[in-house]
Amino acid sequence: MHFLLETLRVLLLSLWFNIESFIHLFVPRRRKSVAGEVVLITGAGSGIGRLMAREFASLGTVLVLWDINQEGLKESAVLARESGAARVYFYVCDCSSKTEVYRVADQVKREVGDVSILVNNAGIVTGKKFMDAPDSLIEKTMEVNTMAHFWTYKAFLPAMIANNHGHLVSIASSAGLIGVNGLADYCASKFAAVGFAESIGLEMLAIGKSGVKTTIVCPYFINTGMFDGCQSKWPRVLPILDPDYAAKKILEAVLTDQVYVLMPRSMYMISGLKNILPMKQGLLLGEYLGAFNMMDNFKGRAKKQE
Ligand SMILES: NC(=O)c1ccc[n+]([C@@H]2O[C@H](COP(=O)([O-])OP(=O)(O)OC[C@H]3O[C@@H](n4cnc5c(N)ncnc54)[C@H](O)[C@@H]3O)[C@@H](O)[C@H]2O)c1
Repeated sequence: MHFLLETLRVLLLSLWFNIESFIHLFVPRRRKSVAGEVVLITGAGSGIGRLMAREFASLGTVLVLWDINQEGLKESAVLARESGAARVYFYVCDCSSKTEVYRVADQVKREVGDVSILVNNAGIVTGKKFMDAPDSLIEKTMEVNTMAHFWTYKAFLPAMIANNHGHLVSIASSAGLIGVNGLADYCASKFAAVGFAESIGLEMLAIGKSGVKTTIVCPYFINTGMFDGCQSKWPRVLPILDPDYAAKKILEAVLTDQVYVLMPRSMYMISGLKNILPMKQGLLLGEYLGAFNMMDNFKGRAKKQE
């Protein structure tokens, strides 16, 4: 009897959740207010970090910006102030160092207060074939793109749990869902970031802290300079994303508590197919979509982070 009742409950709720999702294809989801929230963005000195800072600023948040690039940080802070942030603080922090993350996090807690929206955005890419990539760059990639997420969660999650209120935003990548030729260390770091964020999201639900939300962002290439030189084989199916568009989509996802954001929309189909197609057909599709040659013309940023 217990089995029948529980099965019926799951079937009915599944039906309702599907209807609800269908309705939201036409009716926008309710947006939450983030005015007054303390939003920390790592890697805010350029790219989508800077643009997300501008978007959050326009919603009246208190902004805490981190980066290793002091000049970039200053420019982002000016932009955030002009865009309407309640207050803006910025700190030089090398997220690849656990001690530095903990040190600057303590400073933020003293000078600003508890962070309620944490956006792990800082990221680097080696852009070399695995055997050509120096060990130091591989380690750095894991430290910035993955390990930094562990340490920032350790620093800021306790207050979110205590208040049962907060939002953890992980800027991962579509390379965190599907492997790419020539991006082995980056893919490994992003797969890890996705698995970590998803698991902590579940941990929050399991301990009854449903007020601590998770958003995991998996974009294809964005035109910020990080992947300069890379081209899309079929731009109509997989367009290189405009940074402003990407930042706005991320904000929309946070405001509507969306857990997964894949961009462009075709990525939902592609990542779904990866898990259900026979292997040979999956490889054929990957080749058709250019997954084997995506990194052939990679230049990246002129100045690399060592
Ligand atoms: N650009 C793309 O095509 C693309 C696609 C998918 C995902 N992403 C991800 O989006 C995020 C932002 O990328 P972007 O395109 O804006 O690139 P970007 O290079 O403009 O921004 C990355 C920022 O991180 C900072 N940073 C690097 N190492 C750091 C460190 N050790 N400590 C603190 N800050 C550090 C950089 O100074 C820079 O300001 C990254 O995590 C990236 O992996 C980018």
